[in-house]
Amino acid sequence: MVSHNELANVKPLPKVKAKRLAIDAAALAAARGSLEQGALTPHYGPWSEDVIKLLNDSLATELVCVLRYKRHHFTAEGLASPKIAEEFLVHANEESAHADRLARRIVQLGGKPDFSPDSLLQRSHAGYDESTDLKAMIVANLIAERVAIESYSQMITLVGDKDSTTRRLLEDILGDEQQHAEELKDWLAD
Ligand SMILES: [Fe+2]
Ligand SMILES: [Fe+2]
Repeated sequence: MVSHNELANVKPLPKVKAKRLAIDAAALAAARGSLEQGALTPHYGPWSEDVIKLLNDSLATELVCVLRYKRHHFTAEGLASPKIAEEFLVHANEESAHADRLARRIVQLGGKPDFSPDSLLQRSHAGYDESTDLKAMIVANLIAERVAIESYSQMITLVGDKDSTTRRLLEDILGDEQQHAEELKDWLAD
């Protein structure tokens, strides 16, 4: 049995100050100002410049991918597999749609989408390719898709919960790139 003396030595646990779930009224008030920032409100934090840079590098990557797939589409015509040449065009159009979505998000974040052809290849994560052989084209595209998958995966981790709209966009595009890579891998095995 615990004696009265022993009980006297037991210190009460410190009270944990629970953080309550409540709206930050000062930030709401701040959101009523800075109207020139459009969709960007105080909650966004100091990340917009970094996110815009990441998105612009991906925009360059998508544009280079459009050019590479288009070149492969037109030069692969007449080669062994017209079906694959047609699929190169399907991919080119999907990469172009990705580029549009990235550019739109860059503008929403107050940035400028960089379409400058001079620096496109330097800023792109993926390379261009001038292969003449169908198999070499498929390999070049698979490498580019894998580079895109790696870069989008890293960006999703970097953006995390800092910008859920951008993260959802990146997750969406990542799913398409994974599908592209799967198709290319299958064509390589045929
Ligand atoms: Fe893409
Ligand atoms: Fe792709």
